[in-house]
Amino acid sequence: MDVLVVGGGGREHSLVKKLAESEQVATIYAAPGNAGVETLATCVGIKDDEIDALVAFAQDHKIDWTIVGPEVPLNAGIVDAFQQVGLNVFGPTKQAALIEGSKDFAKSFMKKYAIPTADYQTFTNASEAKQYIEAKGAPIVVKADGLAAGKGVVVAQTVIEALDAVDQMLVGNQFGDAGSRVVIEEFLDGNEFSLMAFVDGEHVYPMLPARDHKRAFDGDKGPNTGGMGAYCPVPDLQAQEIEFAVEHILHPTAKGMVEEGRSFTGILYAGLIETPQGPKVIEFNARFGDPETQVVLPLLKNDLLQVITDVTSGKDPALEWKDAYCIGTVVASKGYPGKYQKQVPLPRLEESDDCFVIHAGTGSDPSGAYCATGGRVLLVGSLQASQRQAQQAVYEYLRIFDENDDFFYRSDIGFNQKQVIDS
Ligand code: AMP
Ligand code: GLY
Repeated sequence: MDVLVVGGGGREHSLVKKLAESEQVATIYAAPGNAGVETLATCVGIKDDEIDALVAFAQDHKIDWTIVGPEVPLNAGIVDAFQQVGLNVFGPTKQAALIEGSKDFAKSFMKKYAIPTADYQTFTNASEAKQYIEAKGAPIVVKADGLAAGKGVVVAQTVIEALDAVDQMLVGNQFGDAGSRVVIEEFLDGNEFSLMAFVDGEHVYPMLPARDHKRAFDGDKGPNTGGMGAYCPVPDLQAQEIEFAVEHILHPTAKGMVEEGRSFTGILYAGLIETPQGPKVIEFNARFGDPETQVVLPLLKNDLLQVITDVTSGKDPALEWKDAYCIGTVVASKGYPGKYQKQVPLPRLEESDDCFVIHAGTGSDPSGAYCATGGRVLLVGSLQASQRQAQQAVYEYLRIFDENDDFFYRSDIGFNQKQVIDS
């Protein structure tokens, strides 16, 4: 089968790598891909949101399956457009992707179906939002309703910070339409984890839990980013917490979406926080997580394309997992998530026996050498029998960046959150 992967980040490199292992897969195309993807797939110069061009490409090349990575095309209706012309595509329709595309929708949906989450209220009027904040006090969380590339959440430690966030979103239009409505949410304190599942209607097949590290610097300090590293599984999670999340969050969500006439097919991602009452939902995503995918897929024993064809044809894919640990640390451009330089040359990046390299923001110069083109440049990962061994392998490899001021990485990926960092 010929497969098209839509997207060009680390998640998509990881998807392409996993698909390349499948005996059923003949040719892999990626749109637009990146310099790492190019070693395994034919990269096509179409952006991930150019839906008409992607449909035309898939028709012209008789693509058997298209797998969509990013949220923007999903929320713009890429799945609907492919389905309208009879193409196989794995991902939720626009109606179903709204569970990620509107936090207000996700929150009211959770309320209706009694899915555990933080208390909240939604506002379009700044002075009403401010009154609510004054009444509730801090800490409190202010979220832009729409898609904001992971930047639309302010965890305010003070009332002033929260009021300021409301001004930026509702008055200053910082996130445009995405911030013209805000969700103001109760602050929850606890360890976070990500639980993804293959979903088709009411059928839910959970993956192993993972944890990403969202803050830029060691010890969970600094600004929020798209994710600076991740690990899978999560050793401090109890089996009953995972069972609770599957039973009380993933299953009722899938069922509720069917009842809403928004039946979900694709990857349902629950961002969860452990609380004394059990896990609660921080966010839903309608797609594979990034960088979680980069550490979850290496543990999956099954053929990914077979899983997708099984799930979408009503069969249990019988997911099997390696009894091992995978961690991945992101190398980012200096300055990220703020301004950073582009086209900076990268050192030679060969896979070693112990480590794999996933490209995110990379390109190649005319001589074929790799250069950085994005904020998150790449991820160095390792799959080992123990978390400690995986961590050691990754940090050994990353020494090639130690004398290099153009890039930085966190030195504590794989340590549990809220754990004192032992430097
Ligand atoms: P999101 O972009 O929705 O994943 O939010 C980014 C980060 O903000 C999450 O990973 C949490 O660390 C934090 N966050 C979001 N909502 C809450 C909440 N209700 N309580 C505490 N932290 C939160
Ligand atoms: N790692 C969080 C996300 O994919 O949105």
